[in-house]
Amino acid sequence: MNNRFIKVLKGEAVDRPPVWMMRQAGRYLPDYMKLKARYSFFERIETPELATEITVMPVHQVGVDAAILFSDILVIPKVLGIDVELIPGKGPVLDWTVKSESEYKKLNGEDIISRMPTVEACIKMIKAELPDHIPLIGFVGSPWTVFCYMVQGKGSKDFSEAKSFAYNHPSLALKILDKITIATIEYLGHQIDSGVDVFQVFDSWGGLLDRKNYLQFSYPFIKRICDAFPDFPSIVFAKGGWHLLDDLNQLQCNALGLDWTISADYAKSKVSKDKVLQGNLDPSMLLSSDEILVQRTNEMIASFEGHPYVANLGHGILPNIPVEKAKLFIQTVKNYRYS
Ligand code: CP3
Repeated sequence: MNNRFIKVLKGEAVDRPPVWMMRQAGRYLPDYMKLKARYSFFERIETPELATEITVMPVHQVGVDAAILFSDILVIPKVLGIDVELIPGKGPVLDWTVKSESEYKKLNGEDIISRMPTVEACIKMIKAELPDHIPLIGFVGSPWTVFCYMVQGKGSKDFSEAKSFAYNHPSLALKILDKITIATIEYLGHQIDSGVDVFQVFDSWGGLLDRKNYLQFSYPFIKRICDAFPDFPSIVFAKGGWHLLDDLNQLQCNALGLDWTISADYAKSKVSKDKVLQGNLDPSMLLSSDEILVQRTNEMIASFEGHPYVANLGHGILPNIPVEKAKLFIQTVKNYRYS
């Protein structure tokens, strides 16, 4: 595939960094909001025509170099048997939580793909619709991040219930994480078989753990995912994971995502040149004036020069970002040329 994104992930030289944005499909796009008003969240995810329209939208409207499958990390709790609802203004709410041996036993990890019947059709339709030079990114949540929702039952700033549960009941927590990991690997294998070109693991809440707990509750499970697909292009993003870079650098993955709190110099000092760095513009920078946005984007790319690099935000694009600003960010990266 003649594409900058895949080329960079495979270690080839390019004239400018490829660019996409985490959470680029949805949220800030007016055409997405129209679909959101008409169809429920899981209808949008599970209906091939809708998932295709939403996935392809930022490619045509914003000009990104890669598409990301319209789905969610919470399809895993759902397929294991916990209903998930999106409450406006509140975020995801799970029907029940897993905090005991008997609740753990209620999780149904058998034959999960049969309970995700439209994933293959969604990915095939998206691939048929995407221009040839635009790869499709598949994704999963890290087992720890999915565990956070399954124990806490909803979003949280600190996930204190999930963390204290893991600290107080480590052996049960590890069993739950193991079940999530097995399902996640099966699901990711299915995404790959259906046609995604690369995958990203979102460890959105890994950075809430100190290193010792990270090495117990998050890292080994991400490692199992990476090791299951050693030859497939992969990205691991651990938000807040500056203190984990030495460990993440040991993973068998092609790229590491960085949030905006990590400087390029620090990341370059920790991550070997055979791993691509991805990131890391503060999403709030897209609310700045055009002049500042262009300047900061160019400075960011320059700061990563000398290391293989994919331009992105340091976390998901915010719902209040004007589409014009997202376009300007993407176009600024596309105008850049390596010296
Ligand atoms: O990148 C993309 O836009 C592709 C689709 C995608 C969604 N969720 C769609 C979605 C991706 C990659 C995700 C990942 C995801 N989901 C993460 C990891 C990335 C991150 O932001 O840290 C997490 C933690 C979730 C869990 C989740 N799903 C939350 C916290 C919420 C509510 C708040 C929010 O982010 O909007 C969701 C719902 C969700 N997932 C929406 C979308 C477009 C919003 C609901 C809606 O529009 O109906």
